[in-house]
Amino acid sequence: IKNNMHKYSDKFNFLMYKTVESTNTIARKMAINGAESCTVILAEGQTNGYGRNGKYFFSPYGTGIYMSIILNMKKEKKIFKSSLITAAAAVAVSKSIEEISNKDTQIKWVNDIFINDKKVCGILTEGALSFEDGKLDYAVIGIGINVNFPKNGFPKEIDDIASSINAEDNIKDADIENNIDIRNILIAKILENIYEYYFNNAVFYDEYIKRSFLIGKKVSINIDNKDYIVKVLGIDKTFALIIEFQDGKVERIISGTINYRGL
Ligand code: BTN
Repeated sequence: IKNNMHKYSDKFNFLMYKTVESTNTIARKMAINGAESCTVILAEGQTNGYGRNGKYFFSPYGTGIYMSIILNMKKEKKIFKSSLITAAAAVAVSKSIEEISNKDTQIKWVNDIFINDKKVCGILTEGALSFEDGKLDYAVIGIGINVNFPKNGFPKEIDDIASSINAEDNIKDADIENNIDIRNILIAKILENIYEYYFNNAVFYDEYIKRSFLIGKKVSINIDNKDYIVKVLGIDKTFALIIEFQDGKVERIISGTINYRGL
């Protein structure tokens, strides 16, 4: 152990905290300063966890996994699109949750993981593009998972859309210690999978598609602050969404926020 840096595996280095503002903020600073791939920042709780579009990510102490993984593409001369990294992380998390819980998971394009129609995990990939060639210099994969049910429940605003892997009952303080193992196992499985996808180019497209529950659905999509009702025709190999507008126009979309409820 050096400066709070733990080496539990020969592939990953861990920097572990009790409470931080956001593991992604820490990871980004480290990535800018040239941190190695497979540096992992973990916290028991976050005071300012955030998701896509700067949205607050509820990160109560002791019941979830708040993890950021640094990948340094520049150093490894790897060419990986950010959509591919996010999708790889989504599959890594989904598969790992299924293995430890025996529950089925679904992936909502591109980065949310659901159990029984409720969100249990959000993933936010941030990175920097090189000025010279437009390729990713580094990426930070931020993963937030609700593992146990939060002691005081979820905030009202997300109570009907969020859940945890162990959703049965509120856990007591004493249980937090006992439940640490399941989080450790989950973290180890997720990292193993991400390693395979990133370094060994293991394929994950089919695994993604089979859990993707938007295909064939009519959804509302927000693109550049405008809402459209569209039908999702599919997801291509680059993880772009293929959608059909009401006027019959078909387009390939690489970012946007989907709302599928009530349609
Ligand atoms: C989303 O739901 O839009 C993505 C949520 C990502 C949350 C994780 S928790 C660890 C890391 N640190 C953050 O501040 N965000 C990510």
